[in-house]
Amino acid sequence: MANAVIAGMQWGDEGKGKIVDLLCPAFDAVVRFQGGHNAGHTVKFGDRHFSLRLIPSGLLHPAMTGVLGNGMVIAPDAFFEEVGELHAAGVDTEGRLFVSSRATVILPWHVALDQAREAERGDAAIGTTSRGIGPAYESKASRMSVRIGDLGQPGLEARLERLAGSLGAQLRALGAREELDIAAMAAQCREWDAALEPYAEDTVHRLHRYVREGRSLLFEGAQGALLDVDHGTFPYVTSSNTTTGAAATGSGVAPTALDGVFGLLKAYTTRVGGGPFPTELKDRTGEFLRQRGNEVGTVTGRPRRCGWLDTVVARYSAQINGVSTIALTKLDVLDDLDEIQVATAYRLRGETVRELPGDRQDWVDAEPIYRTFKGWKTSTVGILGFEELPPAARDYVRRVEDEVEVPVGLVSTGPRREETILRDLPETRHLLGEGFTKVLAERQGS
Ligand code: GDP
Ligand code: IMO
Ligand code: MG
Repeated sequence: MANAVIAGMQWGDEGKGKIVDLLCPAFDAVVRFQGGHNAGHTVKFGDRHFSLRLIPSGLLHPAMTGVLGNGMVIAPDAFFEEVGELHAAGVDTEGRLFVSSRATVILPWHVALDQAREAERGDAAIGTTSRGIGPAYESKASRMSVRIGDLGQPGLEARLERLAGSLGAQLRALGAREELDIAAMAAQCREWDAALEPYAEDTVHRLHRYVREGRSLLFEGAQGALLDVDHGTFPYVTSSNTTTGAAATGSGVAPTALDGVFGLLKAYTTRVGGGPFPTELKDRTGEFLRQRGNEVGTVTGRPRRCGWLDTVVARYSAQINGVSTIALTKLDVLDDLDEIQVATAYRLRGETVRELPGDRQDWVDAEPIYRTFKGWKTSTVGILGFEELPPAARDYVRRVEDEVEVPVGLVSTGPRREETILRDLPETRHLLGEGFTKVLAERQGS
């Protein structure tokens, strides 16, 4: 039995929700380890459609346990709202959804600061999801945050007072007038504490028990490698490490217990919010991808910026994430194009560069060097065998493998479980074990 990580290889929205849901039959528990309700993970099967923000996508499978790890930032109201949506849809959470008592609480004060900062930045705004993610992680790094386990503790008021001192000063500097009401916030925190009682625990012990018992864990990453606070296009990034190392630090499961990584790569590229994007298309083709791919933010409803696949980015992501096998998603969105381009290198200061630069000006100056592919001009939706793909689509997939030097184990050709090619490769067998056939069975049966 293996423990595997799902990691976005671009700027998020690669289809992680869909692939997590598909792979669940091979796993026993699904773990979120970073980020918060800035994520928006879509799952579709049968006539059902879910959009998960905080709760691991795998919870839709009745046999799965879900864990929100210590590395997450959690807004309790958003958590209860989502739990309510699941209950209304007939998904039970009792005894199978757990929240780390070490996770960081996002308070409304963090949300106010996120919004005030973005307004102040004007044209240079990061384009955050306005959920308070960045300020909450700052409170954690400065060791002032309230954690889930603190919400009902006697020291709560003193902690809130210190936090209000820091956040209030920043808010006032940005023009806010209202005083932060510590007593009201403390009362709210105690209410949250009581409501969280069935869910909150120090989840690290549960996860260690699962590992000891040989149960398989699936770690559901949020965002993508290029939004990682260290490895992404800083400062246009989120405030957490979104790459696979965080699966260990954000859950308390040792890195040595992780067996491999599914790297999620969209067959083209999208990005929401500001920041560099070398292969962005601001023309009709970009608009075509947006329409055809339905590229509208799950969380914010903002149109996503679209462009060609960039294997300079994908190679970098494969390396820093240790990707074992790629799940190439949304291949069907390219079905009708006459020609498809893929950036395989950049031209930078007269040189050809194949490695992603680390310098922020270079991301702006980099000119993609494209390779052009003939389109296959026929529908790939729902094809189940790799060999049944049109030859030009197979060439496209093989080119991705050659450029990134990682095998493509899954190809997704639609939003539903049943619209996925699962290739019988050593890498997919290694990560799914006997679950490989269970995944195949559930793909058909849904
Ligand atoms: P995530 O954040 O990585 O989970 O991705 P999102 O759910 O935010 O965005 C992916 C979108 O593409 C969702 O609307 C999915 O339903 C949809 N989707 C996923 N895989 C495919 C695919 O292979 N083809 C098509 N056409 N849509 C897909
Ligand atoms: P999933 O998990 C796409 C982007 C925001 C913004 C930047 C910082 O669905 O792939 P934040 O609110 O995190 O401080 O915003 O990060 N962003 C995402 N973009 N998919 C996501 O999640 C994202 N989560 C954050 O648009 O540019
Ligand atoms: Mg998303």
